[in-house]
Amino acid sequence: MTSDLTLRAGAILTVDLGAVVANWTQLRDRVAPAECSAVVKADAYGLGVARVVPALAAAGCRTFVVAQLEEALAVRQALEPVASNAQVFSLGGLPPGYEGEFIAKRILPVLNHLGEIAAWRAFAAARGEVLPAVIHIDTGMNRLGLGPDELDDLAGHPEWLEGIDVRYWMTHLACADEFDNPMTGEQRERFRGALARLPKAKASFANSSGIFHGKDHHFDLARPGCALYGVNPTPHLPNPMRDTVRLDARLLQVRNCNAPMTVGYGAAHKVTGPARIATIGVGYADGYLRSLSGKGHIFIDGVAAPIVGRISMDLITIDVSGLPETVAHPGRMVELIGPSRPVDTVANEAGTIGYEVLTSLGRRYHRVYTS
Ligand SMILES: Cc1ncc(COP(=O)(O)O)c(C=O)c1O
Repeated sequence: MTSDLTLRAGAILTVDLGAVVANWTQLRDRVAPAECSAVVKADAYGLGVARVVPALAAAGCRTFVVAQLEEALAVRQALEPVASNAQVFSLGGLPPGYEGEFIAKRILPVLNHLGEIAAWRAFAAARGEVLPAVIHIDTGMNRLGLGPDELDDLAGHPEWLEGIDVRYWMTHLACADEFDNPMTGEQRERFRGALARLPKAKASFANSSGIFHGKDHHFDLARPGCALYGVNPTPHLPNPMRDTVRLDARLLQVRNCNAPMTVGYGAAHKVTGPARIATIGVGYADGYLRSLSGKGHIFIDGVAAPIVGRISMDLITIDVSGLPETVAHPGRMVELIGPSRPVDTVANEAGTIGYEVLTSLGRRYHRVYTS
C-alpha cells in the first residue's frame, strides 16, 4: 500500500535488508573459518549506513570497512546501540591532525605509506601507548599501500613499527572479477611473500569476487562490498547473490503523439507515426544515469518500455506504444530497477558497473526498508 509520503515522492526505493543480511551470511559461511567483514563505504554502496550497519551487526558482523574518517564516524554511531565493540577500518589513511579522532572514536586507520606509519608511531609515542592500525601493502594496484621499495624499507626496519599494534596486513585485488586473469594469483603470491618478511599479524585479502577464487584467497579477513548489495561477484556465472534494491516510479503523464514530433531536450527522439510517450519523475539528479538516454528500458507489468530521448535532471520519457492505455496510464507505478531489471542489467545498458548504479542512488527517493 502507498502512504502519503510514497505518493509525494517521484519514486520509491525499496531496500531489502533481509537480502543484504542473507548475502553477508552466505559469504560468511563461504569464508569460514576466516572472518567476514562488510564494506560499507559510500553510505553502504548507496543503500544507507544507518540501516544496513545495524542489520549486519545484528546478524553478527563485527568488522566494517569505509573509505573516509567521516564515514567511519557515521558507522560508529550506527553501531553504538547494537555492537559498540565492532571494529571499523578507514581505508583512506590518516588525515594529518585527526589522529586523536581515530583513538577517541575507536577507528582503525589503514596506513598506506611510510609517512603515515611514522605519523602513527610518533602519535603513539607522544601518548605513551601502543596504538592499533591496519597496514596496506600494494601488490599491484599502484594506488594506495606500501609499494615494493617501501616494503623493503619496512622489512629492514622493524623498529618503525614500534608502538603500532598491527591488527591486519591488507592488500586489494585489481582483477578479481576476471576469473581467468592470472593477476589475482600473482597478487596472492606477492602478498604471501610480503607477509613472510613482516612481523606476524592477521591478513586481509579478498573483496567480493576474491572470495569466489577459493579458500587459499580468504586469509584471515575477507572484505566484500558489492556482493552484499546484490552485484554479481562471478560475472561469468549466474548471480549467487540476492537482489537488494528495487526502484519504482509513477507515470506522471502519458502523451498521445498522432503526428510526427520530437521528444525532450535536443529534440533527440523523433516520433514518426502514432505513439504514446510516458513521462516519469526520475532523472539524472536522482542518479538515474544520463548514459541510459535512448538505451535503457523500464518495465511495466513485465513488459519492457524503451527509454526514448534524453534523460533530464528530473524526468525520463519512455515509449509505451506497445502497452494498452489501461496499463500505461498516469499514476501507474513502473519498475526502473527490480526483478525485471536487476542492478547489473541497468549497469550494462548504461555502459557502467553495478557499483556506480548503486552508489548513485538518489536522495529524493522515498526510501522503504524491508527485513
Ligand atoms: C580496499 C577495498 N577492499 C574491499 C572493497 C570491496 O570490494 P567489492 O565491492 O568489489 O567487494 C573495496 C571496494 O572498492 C576496497 O576498496
